[in-house]
Amino acid sequence: MPDDIAPTRHQRLGSNAGDPHSRLDGIAKITGAARYAADNAPAGLLWAVIAGAPVARGRVARLDTAAALAHPGVTHVITPENRPALHKDPDLRAALFDWKLDLLQDDRIRYAGAPMALVLAETAEAAAEGARLLAPEIEADPARIGFGDGLAFAAETVGIGAPPATAVGDVEAGFAAAAQVTEVEIETPPQYHNAMEPHAIVAQWQGERLVIDTPNQAIVMSRPSFAAYFGIPPENVHIRSPYLGGGFGSKAILNPAQILACLAARETGRPVKLVLSRAQMYGPTGHRGATRQSLRLGVDAAGRLTALSHHAVSATSSFDDFLEPAANAALNTYACPAISVSHSGSRWDIGTPGPMRAPGEATGSAALECAMDEAAHAAGLDPLDFRLRNYAETDPATGRAYSSKALRECYALGAERFGWKTRPMQPGQMRDARGRLLGWGMGTSLFPAPMFQAEARATLRADGSAVVETAASDMGQGAWTALAQIAAEGLGLDLAQVEFRSGDSELPDAGVAGGSGHTATAGSALYSAGRDVIAQLTALATADPASPLHGAGNRAVVAADGWLRIEGEDHRRESYAAILARAGRDALTGRGKGARDPAHAEARAMFSHGAVFAEVAVDPALLQIRVTRLTGAFAAGRIINPKLAESQLLGGMIWGLGFALQEEALHDRRSGRLLNADLAGYHVPVNADLAEIEALTVHEEDRFVNPLGVKGVGELGITGTAGAIANAVWHATGRRVRRFPIHPEDLA
Ligand code: MOS
Repeated sequence: MPDDIAPTRHQRLGSNAGDPHSRLDGIAKITGAARYAADNAPAGLLWAVIAGAPVARGRVARLDTAAALAHPGVTHVITPENRPALHKDPDLRAALFDWKLDLLQDDRIRYAGAPMALVLAETAEAAAEGARLLAPEIEADPARIGFGDGLAFAAETVGIGAPPATAVGDVEAGFAAAAQVTEVEIETPPQYHNAMEPHAIVAQWQGERLVIDTPNQAIVMSRPSFAAYFGIPPENVHIRSPYLGGGFGSKAILNPAQILACLAARETGRPVKLVLSRAQMYGPTGHRGATRQSLRLGVDAAGRLTALSHHAVSATSSFDDFLEPAANAALNTYACPAISVSHSGSRWDIGTPGPMRAPGEATGSAALECAMDEAAHAAGLDPLDFRLRNYAETDPATGRAYSSKALRECYALGAERFGWKTRPMQPGQMRDARGRLLGWGMGTSLFPAPMFQAEARATLRADGSAVVETAASDMGQGAWTALAQIAAEGLGLDLAQVEFRSGDSELPDAGVAGGSGHTATAGSALYSAGRDVIAQLTALATADPASPLHGAGNRAVVAADGWLRIEGEDHRRESYAAILARAGRDALTGRGKGARDPAHAEARAMFSHGAVFAEVAVDPALLQIRVTRLTGAFAAGRIINPKLAESQLLGGMIWGLGFALQEEALHDRRSGRLLNADLAGYHVPVNADLAEIEALTVHEEDRFVNPLGVKGVGELGITGTAGAIANAVWHATGRRVRRFPIHPEDLA
């Protein structure tokens, strides 16, 4: 490993950005002072409970609405028979990023848990009891669940979420030229987001204005989706989402509960609160669709890829089209002259899947990294050596130069910290002191570094402090903290001098907290809003004969610590407050936008990268698999807050552990219901599942992604990790398990 590579955990890059601040909202959250959506209880509130379908397919023949209405607390029961009209057909898509919703449009059942009725009552208990009293009579049809039973279809026949087939070079010629061809088929199961905070909404109407408290990853952007159902302008929708207890993608899209609550509030003229139960989080709120992936890797005698094909069949619902774009990872990860990527779908009687924790890259990289491990072994090469031989110097899909790519440094740092170089080539060679089989595996992490559109406002106040505003979403990742740090840097103020306002659709649009692009996008908007303030302030000072900065001309004016000064002439300086006071201004407002420079977007491939190394220990008698060590090294451009970035990367790696060994939704084949719709049966990692974990970052300058040099760390850590763990399981046991999660019985 080169000597100059060192972890940059606590690097200082600026007076604010670069500092490992703790979350600004952390104390409020852990002391219970933070008010989440479901904590709101406006006067006159009605409680709503969704009665969900007990089977996955069929029709509701009868509901005992009379029994429910006879309950003393129940006020209304809304079913397809009396459901008030909506302005928009829920089976039509109004916007591109829109899902078809089950909103009591008819008596069909399309998945278990789909709404059959909405019960409204004076108390939560009465609403729940009313829902039970409905005692549905169901005409059930057999559920079609699983790749064997699902209806296959070509991705080209659908619209949203169906990735186009892509080919680079001549794949057949590439396979013909290969010295060896590795073929791998891997399945990944349905997975559910399981945010700690359940989906919840408090909806109230003020005339033609709809006011909503709901956790939301795309606060301003989602207004049109709500508005379309009620025929009101998007500006009439006011969404408040100050805190989210996790999202993982599920709070980026609408769910039926949200629209039904708004509808009920309009119908009853009262505020309505609807909180999903934990069990109801498995059905109508999206999930990660199952995949069946086929990979072929051609490798020449020198250990170089000659051809790579990756086809994914992704499960979706019977009525909508989102496909987990699993195969796309093959387009951008390794150098290869011929790559072919395609997707098709399989329709199951399930709720429509959606984005969840690196949608596509997580599932795709899990399969690709397993296939790469097999190909390396077949070629007689160390897995890291094999990846270095196939290092992509330019983006394989487009040939574009990378905006930055410090993956080689990640491989070197991760391998060094992990101790990779002593790894034996053959499996089953290592044991720990307890006699357990030890195995080491690795994987490459890759995630796009996108930017969306965002706006922000910064207002400098007479006392020299500032308010910055953008409707960002903090799911717990620390977005507000990192964004406030960026805003402070743009303003040349200490973080303590900056009041950050967010989480409300009345504020400028911060875009979506998704795609790992929130910090880059909203951060760029905040930064440029701050720079706009400084430019105005500079103009005021330099034009004023009474200012020490008067007539600065072309000399550089620096803004820092609440002062403007002329570079190299430090006695020529003036505080922000003094400039405003003499100009007779109470405040100065600046505006900024965040979006990618289209010229750079055209010319450069932009990705975050990383390398994950895993050690597992397998008990030879019980076949229990434990992850004993995980080391990740990541390059994600400029790190704004090392403490929060490390937490996000660790979190991503822990998602990868859950992916590899635990997370899976199990369907009852007859009813189509989930057998494990709770956190007792749907396993996610806890501290005891992981002995030792480390996330390191390597320094990476990027002049193209955005002026801040920020890429993103939200989803990077899950990619590479699941494959690294599966490869470690093989290295311990000699068993290639082709289905995630890997169970002890798979090793028997
Ligand atoms: Mo995410 S799955 O980018 O919210």
